[in-house]
Amino acid sequence: MTSVVISGTGLFRPEHTVTNEELVTSFNTYIDQENAKHADAIAAGERPALAHSSVEFIEKASGIKQRYVMDKSGVLDPKRMFPRLTPRGDDELSLMAEIAVHASRQALAQAGKEGKDVDAVICAASNMQRAYPAMAVEVQQALGAGGYGFDMNVACSSATFGIEQAVNAVRSGSARCVLVVNPEITSGHQEWRDRDCHFIFGDACTAVVVERADTATSGDQWEVLGTKLATQFSNNIRNNFGYLNRCEDTDPNARDKTFQQEGRKVFKEVIPLAAAHIENHLKDLGIQPTQVRRFWLHQANLSMNQLVIKRLIGGEATSDIAPLILDEFANTSSAGSVIAFHAHHADLTRGDIGVICSFGAGYSVGSVVMRKR
Ligand code: COA
Repeated sequence: MTSVVISGTGLFRPEHTVTNEELVTSFNTYIDQENAKHADAIAAGERPALAHSSVEFIEKASGIKQRYVMDKSGVLDPKRMFPRLTPRGDDELSLMAEIAVHASRQALAQAGKEGKDVDAVICAASNMQRAYPAMAVEVQQALGAGGYGFDMNVACSSATFGIEQAVNAVRSGSARCVLVVNPEITSGHQEWRDRDCHFIFGDACTAVVVERADTATSGDQWEVLGTKLATQFSNNIRNNFGYLNRCEDTDPNARDKTFQQEGRKVFKEVIPLAAAHIENHLKDLGIQPTQVRRFWLHQANLSMNQLVIKRLIGGEATSDIAPLILDEFANTSSAGSVIAFHAHHADLTRGDIGVICSFGAGYSVGSVVMRKR
């Protein structure tokens, strides 16, 4: 079987950061405004007063300390509470394609490749900026890549699911060098006005170069030993935004048209799912979890990752075993586990085994087991 490697990764990090303090100040101002607007109804007992958020809760419940966003002013404006983005003409590079190109150039440079060496682009993300043409085709053109491009969405697992498509394309010979990009402008679907989830997400974009081992020249190569994907339907993370909303005459600004979740249920159900998935994948490959040098896990919740690792190796999830990036980035959906890999693998040496694993809406779980070459 053709040996396939990951030979480069790239990361786009937006220039604006929002700290928990800034976020909570703006959120609480918004809540005060809402409560003042409905003061009579609240006093009459017709509706409950909305509660404030707190920095302490956010850090304790999630481990998140800040997030990057494409636009800070709109997000923090208590009269708006979502990003303010400038529309672009059809002849301009779209925003998602722009950040994808940014991350891609970095990944290609690391792999020692140019756009023309790429013969497939997979844009794998939780949301696409438009219905069509596919974002991947725009990225393909901007990079001067050949072959084909397509978009795919498996929410937080989009990147690992995309990597499996790339690995299979290279193995089967339908492509030689595939770029997987994960532009996650999560600030667009985050519900910044909902106390239960207003702190969860951040924006970022990652890119991964997947190619035949015999064409790879990068000084940093990871042989893909196997990929494994699984899905199981759940409504616990859901967003009903879609192209049929208009036809259903539903309110485009209704609460169900942005991200919503049953956080507790997700927490309880996804931990065993993810741990068993990784364990079974490693077993298929004849590897014990304790032989894995590093796990680059989905970045949604600190305790969740700690519990997944505990189930796998029976020990503590130190930053050496399962590095965290969510304190700095928050949940960047599919980009999270790739950011963890991108930022935390330089110290590993030849023969070391590592696992990238994502989990999230669907439910979906995807793992990529790799060995440093
Ligand atoms: N500020 C202060 N208090 C808050 C709050 C906020 N922003 N949000 C909720 N609370 C309160 C709740 O009202 C509740 O109070 P109560 O006990 O008096 O009823 C308490 O804090 C606990 O709320 P809960 O929702 O149970 O928190 P949690 O510990 O489950 O943490 C999440 C919430 C979302 C961080 C956590 O459930 C999680 O990360 N789940 C997994 C999410 C995930 O992976 N999703 C995938 C997304 S793609």
